Amino acid sequence: MAQKFSILSFLLIHLILLCSCSGDEMETTLTNLTSISWSHRTNSQSLLDEVLKSDINMIEADIVYGVLNNDSSEEMQPIMGHPPETTSDISLRSFLNQVLDYNKNKDISEKKGVKLDFKSTTVYKSSLPLLMELWDTMDYPVWINADIYPGPWNNTSTIPVDAQEFFDGAKKLKNAVLSPGWTTAWGYNYTDGHYTQEQVDAMINVIKENNITNQITFPVRAGIASQSVTELDHLYRSLNMTNAITFTLWSSVNDSVNVEKLRDMIFHFGVDKVYIDIPEELFNQLNLDNERNSSRLLKPLMLLSLIYLFVLIF
Ligand SMILES: *[C@@H]1O[C@H](CO)[C@@H](O)[C@H](O)[C@H]1NC(C)=O
Ligand SMILES: *[C@@H]1O[C@H](CO)[C@@H](O)[C@H](O)[C@H]1NC(C)=O
Ligand SMILES: *[C@@H]1O[C@H](CO)[C@@H](O)[C@H](O)[C@H]1NC(C)=O
Ligand SMILES: *[C@@H]1O[C@H](CO)[C@@H](O)[C@H](O)[C@H]1NC(C)=O
Ligand SMILES: *[C@@H]1O[C@H](CO)[C@@H](O)[C@H](O)[C@H]1NC(C)=O
Ligand SMILES: *[C@@H]1O[C@H](CO)[C@@H](O)[C@H](O)[C@H]1NC(C)=O
Ligand SMILES: *[C@@H]1O[C@H](CO)[C@@H](O)[C@H](O)[C@H]1NC(C)=O
Ligand SMILES: *[C@@H]1O[C@H](CO)[C@@H](O)[C@H](O)[C@H]1NC(C)=O
Ligand SMILES: *[C@@H]1O[C@H](CO)[C@@H](O)[C@H](O)[C@H]1NC(C)=O
Repeated sequence: MAQKFSILSFLLIHLILLCSCSGDEMETTLTNLTSISWSHRTNSQSLLDEVLKSDINMIEADIVYGVLNNDSSEEMQPIMGHPPETTSDISLRSFLNQVLDYNKNKDISEKKGVKLDFKSTTVYKSSLPLLMELWDTMDYPVWINADIYPGPWNNTSTIPVDAQEFFDGAKKLKNAVLSPGWTTAWGYNYTDGHYTQEQVDAMINVIKENNITNQITFPVRAGIASQSVTELDHLYRSLNMTNAITFTLWSSVNDSVNVEKLRDMIFHFGVDKVYIDIPEELFNQLNLDNERNSSRLLKPLMLLSLIYLFVLIF
């Protein structure tokens, strides 16, 4: 029986970077999760074909309950799609099998992982038998994602997946990387809002009550997460002793995002703790090559140079 590789060992093999620390000769190893590349909404056959030909590391895709558009029996089943879609040209079964085929006999460094975003309790529950059937054969990261609580600006048009059902299902998938999130309403005209203490506590409580010890990556919307460092830090510290915790930043095109605050959030937790699945234009503005340019470090530096100038002048 194939052992399920943890995301960490997958990443360690992929992306070990050596950083020689100033001051001594010791080298420490650090994984740079921000260099993992993503595809987004890979919900059709043509998009999957494209991604399987590319050098993308992680395939992000959504699953809804609906019908295949060439299927005259109109059988309801888990299909690849994003609400409000209810038809697709590719089923979850076909999607998973194609990724499985692609990864077969590939070197670990060439395997692609998948992040499955389940859009309703119904589709999640009806996908579990298939996931259980294939689980031991998928020796690469398969993340189980769903929004399970309402988040900042309660998006009342999105009903979260039932939190208890989410974890009951997860327990059937040994060592799954879990990605439980909050529904959000955000956009170009949103500037205020953060993940609240109550929203974060609801998440901590359900994870603790269920004795979940899996690796967890919290999917957080970039524009909101950048304004929630205090709350996310509390989330991280509350679970750090029982779970390997990371964050996955995501963002929609045209979301309002404070780039400086987002940089600070990323460097607050570190590039070994934050995956970044955001539009390329926003990613490029982050200027991640240069940690020293973050405002956190810039301010004391500017102060120092002012003092220096002052001393020079007088
Ligand atoms: C529907 O399309 C899929 C993918 O193109 C194909 O595998 C399947 O056989 C088709 N089903 C029918 C009933 O035509
Ligand atoms: C979100 O909105 C729905 C519908 O108005 C409401 O039932 C629910 O209590 C709200 N949730 C929170 C956490 O505010
Ligand atoms: C609310 O959620 C739905 C479904 O995910 C999404 O299509 C819509 O854009 C969201 N609304 C806002 C304002 O973010
Ligand atoms: C942003 O615009 C949307 C759509 O026009 C609207 O529903 C929403 O209330 C606005 N949000 C804010 C915070 O102004
Ligand atoms: C979690 O663990 C505690 C202590 O071992 C136990 O009392 C409780 O029943 C467990 N809960 C679940 C949902 O497994
Ligand atoms: C997280 O837990 C590890 C031990 O598992 C500990 O070494 C580390 O200091 C903790 N980090 C934080 C920020 O609490
Ligand atoms: C983003 O904003 C641009 C310019 O306002 C607009 O043309 C485009 O349609 C928007 N894209 C989305 C996905 O909302
Ligand atoms: C991490 O990866 C990003 C994206 O590839 C890169 O810009 C950055 O320089 C890397 N950081 C470190 C510390 O290697
Ligand atoms: C530092 O960041 C600012 C604003 O993000 C940018 O304009 C500037 O080019 C950066 N400087 C360096 C040296 O990267």
